[in-house]
Amino acid sequence: MVIIIVNFKTYQKASGEEAVKLARICEKVAKDTKADIMVAVQNVDLFHVSKEVSIPVLAEHADPVSYGAHTGKDLPESLVDNGATGVIVNHSEDKEELVDIETVIKRAKGIGLQTIVCAPSPESSEAIAAFSPDFIAVEPPELIGGDISVSKAKPDLISNTIRLVNKVDKQIPVLCGAGVKDSEDVRIALELGCKGILVASGITKAKDPEKALRELVSGGV
Ligand code: G3P
Repeated sequence: MVIIIVNFKTYQKASGEEAVKLARICEKVAKDTKADIMVAVQNVDLFHVSKEVSIPVLAEHADPVSYGAHTGKDLPESLVDNGATGVIVNHSEDKEELVDIETVIKRAKGIGLQTIVCAPSPESSEAIAAFSPDFIAVEPPELIGGDISVSKAKPDLISNTIRLVNKVDKQIPVLCGAGVKDSEDVRIALELGCKGILVASGITKAKDPEKALRELVSGGV
């Protein structure tokens, strides 16, 4: 079944109380359709959202730190304590150095926090694959938030990412994201070999998020 990660980012309709409402919608669609839907919420919303829904709740960021004197950082252990089952790493809106990506992946593995590591290109996906994250998500930055999906605009980028990641480690599932809006976008991504997609604006800015999410799920069955 298709994996759909709904990234709430800092959209108003996906922050605070609205984050809880949107997560409940995602949970409802997941239950009805059996799709593997996860929500990635702002770290400050983790505790609240994770108490309210039974689907996996991801953090949007973790810092490569351990317990100690690190003011203002997001400690991986604290994300888990606050209900996160995983974390998005190196999103193009939250870029990180390769060395920090590696550290976060290592730290997350030790505490049962899944890592969904984003990359802008096949080559950076290949480099990240060496660190054995749980997922790699390729997202061309220029298509994020737009109306044309990565699946339709850059199918070669998806295929090349899967090819290069497989060269390093065939076990790492590849996801893709950017501009995903309809069932066709999801269908193409799966046909190219992705296990699922990441989506933000297609859901957070939709007039009817439940309908929009059901539309995406229908591309994966
Ligand atoms: O992480 C998913 C995201 O970057 C894609 O954003 O708005 O193009 O669906 P969007």
